[in-house]
Amino acid sequence: MNTFYITTPIYYANSLPHLGHLYTTTVSDVVHRYKKQRGFETFFLTGTDEHGINIQRAAEDNKRTPQEQVDFVAGELKKMFADFRLDEAGGGYDIFMRTTNEFHYEGVQVFWKQMAENSTPKGNSTIYKDFYKAWFCAPCAEFKTETEYEIREGEEIPRCLVHEKPLDRVEEESYFFRLSDYSEILLEKIEQNENLIRPESRRNEIISFIKGGLQDLSISREKKNVSWGIPVPGDKDHVMYVWVDALSNYLTAIGFGNKTQENIGWEKFWQNAHHFVGKDILRFHTVYWFSFLIAAGIELPKTVFAHGMWLDGDGRKMGKTLGNIIKPQVLHELFQTDGLRYFLLREMSFGRDGKFSYENLIERANADLAKGLGNLSSRTLSMITKYRDGLVPDGTIHEENFIYAKRAGVSPDEQELVSVLESTREEFIREFDDFNFGSGLEAVWKVIARIDKTITESAPWNLIKDEDQEETLNAVLYRATETLRWLCVLLHPVMPESTKNIYAQIGLDDDISKLDPAQLKWGDLKPGTKIGETAPVFPRLDQNKIMKAIEEKQEEENEAAKAAENNYISIDDFFKVELKVGEVLECESVPKSEKLLECKVDLGEEDPRQILAGMAQHYSPEDMVGKKIVVVSNLKPRKMMGMESQGMICAASVGEDDKPVLATFLEDVPNGARLK
Ligand code: MSP
Repeated sequence: MNTFYITTPIYYANSLPHLGHLYTTTVSDVVHRYKKQRGFETFFLTGTDEHGINIQRAAEDNKRTPQEQVDFVAGELKKMFADFRLDEAGGGYDIFMRTTNEFHYEGVQVFWKQMAENSTPKGNSTIYKDFYKAWFCAPCAEFKTETEYEIREGEEIPRCLVHEKPLDRVEEESYFFRLSDYSEILLEKIEQNENLIRPESRRNEIISFIKGGLQDLSISREKKNVSWGIPVPGDKDHVMYVWVDALSNYLTAIGFGNKTQENIGWEKFWQNAHHFVGKDILRFHTVYWFSFLIAAGIELPKTVFAHGMWLDGDGRKMGKTLGNIIKPQVLHELFQTDGLRYFLLREMSFGRDGKFSYENLIERANADLAKGLGNLSSRTLSMITKYRDGLVPDGTIHEENFIYAKRAGVSPDEQELVSVLESTREEFIREFDDFNFGSGLEAVWKVIARIDKTITESAPWNLIKDEDQEETLNAVLYRATETLRWLCVLLHPVMPESTKNIYAQIGLDDDISKLDPAQLKWGDLKPGTKIGETAPVFPRLDQNKIMKAIEEKQEEENEAAKAAENNYISIDDFFKVELKVGEVLECESVPKSEKLLECKVDLGEEDPRQILAGMAQHYSPEDMVGKKIVVVSNLKPRKMMGMESQGMICAASVGEDDKPVLATFLEDVPNGARLK
């Protein structure tokens, strides 16, 4: 069986998922499902890129350890993928790769050693150690040359032209990859094979970049400066440059250099590997990655396809500053996943930038899906229910009835439609094989329009009234239903759920995800098939209502952001803290501790709680007994001096020595009453 390996970039685990992540993963998912239908043994990878200074800093900013940081983002991304059925359970990716996986460490080290053991095409050592002085941009994870930064008036530290953030000065020992020895071989490989880098415009950019001259690449950082990374084999003072670590994931995930993933069989998938990436990271995936692979003696992937960026409706870059970020969560709550998938594939020509606006999304969903495919399906199937007792009729028109068919504007020759469908199928396959999703879909929608037109013009609601038109009506209904079956198979990778749904409504129950569009045969839909229960598949979207909901969400978020700026917390946040009235029943000093008192506190529960309080210097055990106090009752229990404390007693902290003054009550209150 032929194999097909498709990868998305592994996304940085420093920030929350956004539309860009959703996009590349959705397109890859479509290709993955399409290739599966075509009979390929497929493997689909997505995941997170979890090392480097960028992640280390995000962790510091968020007061997390780096591990907590990457676990958090990987978790959020997985949740998002599950929402959009891009995960394993939804029939999506085969692996969610994480570069903190143990097996990845193993595999990358093998990869590094393999590069180091070979010599360059010019006979030099591939990796060497030197001293490095340069400016580094953490968000780009890239060293910057003079043309890539600016020094602003009155400032000493240059800023990256992409992020406009001050750069880091790096002056340290580093391992270098001798990239300068790879220009010729890279050019040869890229020029020889026009599919290696796509689209053509990007390929040309890479060619001119290489022709402009390649400089050796620093591929390690001193551990004392960047601690969150994979050690360089044999040198514990250095960690690998994050891109060496990240790019290698495409190999380690399928079993290169490690036992854990070995059974996937990396070589069998690698021989037909395709990387989908945004144009922002094409250079890494071609110039660097190809050179690393050549150095390690491993074949290049078949294609690196650089798609464009989603811009906002006005054509501006999306970002925090402009506040025009599209949140996957909002899309999930307000839109149907299949409608969104269709929009993403149809609206942006793969390889060019595209504009994303909710209005366009709604318009497309209404025009192409609700009114288009959805309407075709529901009107056809409901006519079968109404006019033919829910049984798919035989569509043959006998010669003696040709005359009536013609009168109704229906061609007696079924073959006309069949050949249109067959050529549409060929076109669709050609375009999808070539990753031109928009054009493939456009071709299919022409067929939808054609069938719609036949229905409208032949007016089955009139044909039913005319005995002579029995066969004409049958033909119209059969042809529409059989076309619908074809459309379901063709469109399945793009809209997995809705096509399954329509397919079941036609009354068919085979597994559509395994039907190869190339094998579709006209007439396989048997007359007499009992159609299933019919229901609308694509809801009509109310633009005003949706836009209002989006605005409200935006407002909520703005308010939350403002509150965060003022250090306010929401009432929900406050209610997370459970404050209760307690009465100290017993109290003793904790042996060997100057500060701690051990109290037994009645919180109105079955048993009193043991709570330790650091008040011994200011309150004696006798002072405490009998006092009504305030306790944080849902604090995670923790151990102090070997004893468990099951809550916290509240006190004001006064003066320079932080003297505790117990919070208590002026009136009598029952134990266990909640403070709010
Ligand atoms: N970690 C690296 C990739 C390492 S791969 C070995 C990285 N991560 S990232 O989180 O920044 O993701 C970048 C990718 O997100 C882009 O290549 C693209 O696939 C996607 N997108 C980010 N913004 C996008 C848009 N505005 N529009 C479309 N896709 C975009 O780079």
